Amino acid sequence: MKKPQVLPFDKYALYHEAVQSPETDVEFYRDTYHEIFKSKKVTTLREDFCAGGAISAEWVKLNKKYRSCGLDLDPEPLEYGRKHYISKLTAEQQSRVALIQKNVLDKGIPKADIVAAVNFSYCIFKKRELLKQYFQNVYDSVNSKGLFILDIFGGSQCADIIEDRTKFKNMTYYWDQQSFDPITNEALFQIHFRVKGKKYENVFTYDWRLWTIPELKDLMAEVGFKKVVVYWEGTNRKGGGNGIFKQVEKGEACLSWIAYVVGVKS
Ligand SMILES: C[S@@+](CC[C@H](N)C(=O)[O-])C[C@H]1O[C@@H](n2cnc3c(N)ncnc32)[C@H](O)[C@@H]1O
Repeated sequence: MKKPQVLPFDKYALYHEAVQSPETDVEFYRDTYHEIFKSKKVTTLREDFCAGGAISAEWVKLNKKYRSCGLDLDPEPLEYGRKHYISKLTAEQQSRVALIQKNVLDKGIPKADIVAAVNFSYCIFKKRELLKQYFQNVYDSVNSKGLFILDIFGGSQCADIIEDRTKFKNMTYYWDQQSFDPITNEALFQIHFRVKGKKYENVFTYDWRLWTIPELKDLMAEVGFKKVVVYWEGTNRKGGGNGIFKQVEKGEACLSWIAYVVGVKS
């Protein structure tokens, strides 16, 4: 077996800084539930493909009635999350959250009012049948009056072989699109970091199929979701994303975009 790479830095902390914003994510989920159901009766969140469970940890901070659980196959990020995110909560908050080593395809996974699968992790399922099996499992395990929230990215830049670089205070983050096959829509992405002048390559690897919004909508409808709505990100003055997502009927053809696809079970 290949030995895990020993890095002179905390790769999960760098990932968190570069790509995660769990505080605003959980507010979006709560507000979307309120908007769609015109009801504040949401309490439970399941975070699929949770890795360290940063989102599950934030959810229980929002309201003292809220409970959450995160599911991931890999014990390493789960252990990281327990040590770095869950342990920072109060004892009372900790009693309302659980990180569980489980396959999201397993039967009998915990039920919830909202199931969120973000940072595009479902793209690991490359075959339609497998993605449908996952969606069916979510439908069966989301409560009635419940939501399934997925994020998705797209735009013409997805088909380019490019490396995007973002500078942070203590490091540089690289999102490297190494290949894209228009016949299968399969793409290989790598995350690299530059820390203290040295570049660490391939710290995270994603071998994905890039799904499209109509494909996700069709699959959600096929497994039983009554309605599927899309939340599109607004733009800032420079033409980039502003982090504010609104329900839309029509998208916009841009170089790159991010959206949420939300399945409604009622
Ligand atoms: C992109 S990372 C997670 C990102 C995280 N959701 C976030 O918000 O940044 C994908 C995670 O999915 C997990 N994973 C892959 N296949 C899975 C499966 N079938 N069931 C549960 N977890 C899975 C991996 O172990 C990995 O931790």
